[in-house]
Amino acid sequence: MILKKLKPMPKDFLWGASTSAYQVEGANLTHGKGPSVQDIKKVPEGTSELDVCADFYHHYKEDIALMAEMGFKTFRFSVAWSRILPEGTGAVNQEGIDFYNNVIDECLKYNIEPLVTMFHFDLPAALEKKGGWSRRESVDEFVNFAKILYENYGDRVKYWLTINEQNVLTLNGEVIGTCDLKGVDNKYKKLYQENHHMLLAQAKAMALCHEMVPGGKIGPAPNISLVYPASCKPKDVLAAQNLNAIRNWLYLDMAVFGRYNNLVWAFLEEHDATPVIEDGDMDIMASAHPDFIGFNYYSTATVEWNDGTEPAGRGDQQISGDEPGVFKAYPNPNLLRTEFGWEIDPDGFRATMREIYSRYHLPMIVTENGLGAYDKLTEDGKVHDQYRIEYLRKHIEQIKLACSEGVEMMGYCPWSAIDLVSTHEGVVKRYGFIYVNRDEFDLKDLARYKKDSFYWYKKVIETNGEDL
Ligand code: BG6
Repeated sequence: MILKKLKPMPKDFLWGASTSAYQVEGANLTHGKGPSVQDIKKVPEGTSELDVCADFYHHYKEDIALMAEMGFKTFRFSVAWSRILPEGTGAVNQEGIDFYNNVIDECLKYNIEPLVTMFHFDLPAALEKKGGWSRRESVDEFVNFAKILYENYGDRVKYWLTINEQNVLTLNGEVIGTCDLKGVDNKYKKLYQENHHMLLAQAKAMALCHEMVPGGKIGPAPNISLVYPASCKPKDVLAAQNLNAIRNWLYLDMAVFGRYNNLVWAFLEEHDATPVIEDGDMDIMASAHPDFIGFNYYSTATVEWNDGTEPAGRGDQQISGDEPGVFKAYPNPNLLRTEFGWEIDPDGFRATMREIYSRYHLPMIVTENGLGAYDKLTEDGKVHDQYRIEYLRKHIEQIKLACSEGVEMMGYCPWSAIDLVSTHEGVVKRYGFIYVNRDEFDLKDLARYKKDSFYWYKKVIETNGEDL
C-alpha cells in the first residue's frame, strides 16, 4: 500500500533511546556490585573488559543532561540485578538501590520517563554457579528481584520491561556470553527448560507489577525480525514459518496468550526437549497480561528449506543459523549490510510492526533499533555519522507509515543513547548519538562528544517526527 497522506505521529509519542547496565555502566565489581555472568565470561579476543564501559556509573548526570538536550521523552536503561542483590538473592546492596534512585530522579528532573528493563543479559554469577535459569528456584529469585524493584522504584517508574531478548538468550546465548553448552547432551532440553522458567518468571513479574505499581505498565522485550522465505517455493515458505515460530512467536504468544506455539512444541517433541511444566504453570502464564509489547528490531531474516542433510550452523542476534530439517539461513540479495554484516531493511521493519500488531493488537514500543559502525572522532571534536542518520531516518519513516496504517506505536528507543560496549564486538562497534572518547584498551579521557546524529535526532524529536 502506498499512502499519500500520512497521519501525524501520536502527540505523546515516547521518543528516546536505550542502554543496558553491563554495557554502559562500568564500576562492574565496585560499589558493592557482585559479578554477573557477563563479568565472568571469556571476553572475545581483541575486545575490552567490562570494568569501565562508558563509565555511566560516574557520568550519569552529564549523560542524562545530554539526553534532555536532545529532548528525550523516555530513557530505556536496565538495572543490574547483581548491583541490587550481589548474590542474586539475600542481602540488598543499598548503594545499588541509591544509584538507580539517582538515575530515575535525574530523568524525572528533565521530564524524561524512565523505561526500566529488569534483566538484560546479566544474571548474577552467584545464581549461575548454582545452575542459573535451569533451576525451578530461578523463577522465585527473579520475582523476588522484581518485588524489590517495584518497592523501591514503583512510585516513580511507570513503564517496565521484563527480560531483554529472551529469544536471543535461548537461541544465541553462547554468542552473547550467557551460556556454555560444552558437554551438554541435549542442548534443546536444557535451553527450553531455562526458557520455560524465564517465561514463568516473566508472567509472575507482570502480574506483580499490576498488583504493586499504581498505574504501572509492563511488557516483554524480545528481538523480533520477521522471517522471509528465500523464494515462493512452498517449502521455503514452510521454513520461514518454522523460524518465525521459533525465533519470534513463541515468545509473544506466551507473553500475550499464555500458550506454547504449536510449531515450537512439535519441534521440542521431535528433539525430546519439552520442558517440565508443573501443575498451575500454564494458568499463571494465561492469567498474566502485558500492557504493551516492547521489541528490538535490527533487520529481517531470510531462510530456505533445509532437508536435514547439512550440519547445524551458528549465527548471532541477527544472523540466523541453520537448523537441520527446519530452516537454513539465506543471505537476502535485496538488502545492504552494515559494516558488521547485519542486513538493513526499513521496509521489513514496517512489515514486522504490521505483523506483530495483527497478531496481538497491543500498543508497541521499539526498544532497540540502530546501526553499529566504526565512528571516527575528527580533530575538531565532531563525528560525521551521516550513515546512522540515513539508517534511522528510513526506519522512522516506516513507523510513520505503520502508524498511518493503524498500527498503535507508543514510542521509539533506538540503540543506543550513548556509545557503549557491544555484546561481542567491543567498543569499536558504536551505536550512540553521543560519542565516548575511548578506544578498545586505551580509556583516554572518556569525554562525551555530540555526533551529527545528536543534532539531527533533537530536531526529529522537536518536530515530533515531522522533520526527518
Ligand atoms: C541486542 C541487545 O541484541 O543488540 C543489545 O539487546 C546489543 O544488548 C544490541 O548491544 C546490538 O548488538 P551488538 O552485538 O552489536 O552489541
